[in-house]
Amino acid sequence: MTSTTDAAAGAAYYNRASLLAYDLWVLGLSNRYAWHCPTETLLQHFHQHVGARHLDIGVGTGYLLDHCHFPVANPLIVLADLNPASLAAASHRIRHLHPVTHQLNVLESFVLPEAPFDSVSMNYLLHCLPGNFADKSPAIAHAAAQLKRGGVLFGATILGEGITHNALGGILMRVYNRQGIFSNREDSADALQQMLEQHLKNIKLHLVGRVALFSGQRR
Ligand SMILES: C[S@@+](CC[C@H](N)C(=O)[O-])C[C@H]1O[C@@H](n2cnc3c(N)ncnc32)[C@H](O)[C@@H]1O
Repeated sequence: MTSTTDAAAGAAYYNRASLLAYDLWVLGLSNRYAWHCPTETLLQHFHQHVGARHLDIGVGTGYLLDHCHFPVANPLIVLADLNPASLAAASHRIRHLHPVTHQLNVLESFVLPEAPFDSVSMNYLLHCLPGNFADKSPAIAHAAAQLKRGGVLFGATILGEGITHNALGGILMRVYNRQGIFSNREDSADALQQMLEQHLKNIKLHLVGRVALFSGQRR
């Protein structure tokens, strides 16, 4: 069982200073050299699945939304995050798309007035949530509930179980898990697949380096 305080730890790290460093450190260096999943791969996955009415949960700096090609000229973009600094950074970055923002904890149930969506993304959010995939399962339930029938939920998450990290990845895993920035020591591809199957149909999951890229549709 995890608490609201545990959930806050996974979001609290993202302040103005860390968000300034995020694109260079996480998207530029760590993705390539620690996790062996270049940001370009995450972006391609985003392009494949993003719809005209899109909800992004766990927005960070908004990099992927900023570099993504939407299927329509004027998409509806809704941003949801526990951390107001992330919402401010991402919404400013994609202000040309006029995003709507909501501060919320994805582990608690929520209702969004803009729902239903064609697509919901959760990129690099699951490894920040506390506990194991059983504890994180409500996040998928709450996100899936925002979709229209057949709508797609997609994302990526760094795994900690059933794979071998390189030296840099091993150090980052230890430091981030100790600080509560990550909670992914028990996160395996099999457990992720099982959690997604509880809430979605037509699950697709593949590994690139130490990252699981996944998608599934609302039943
Ligand atoms: C690692 S960043 C991901 C940023 C972006 N999606 C990307 O892929 O670059 C994780 C984001 O999830 C947010 N977050 C963490 N825990 C959350 C929760 N329980 N509910 C909603 N957002 C959360 C953090 O505030 C942060 O903005």
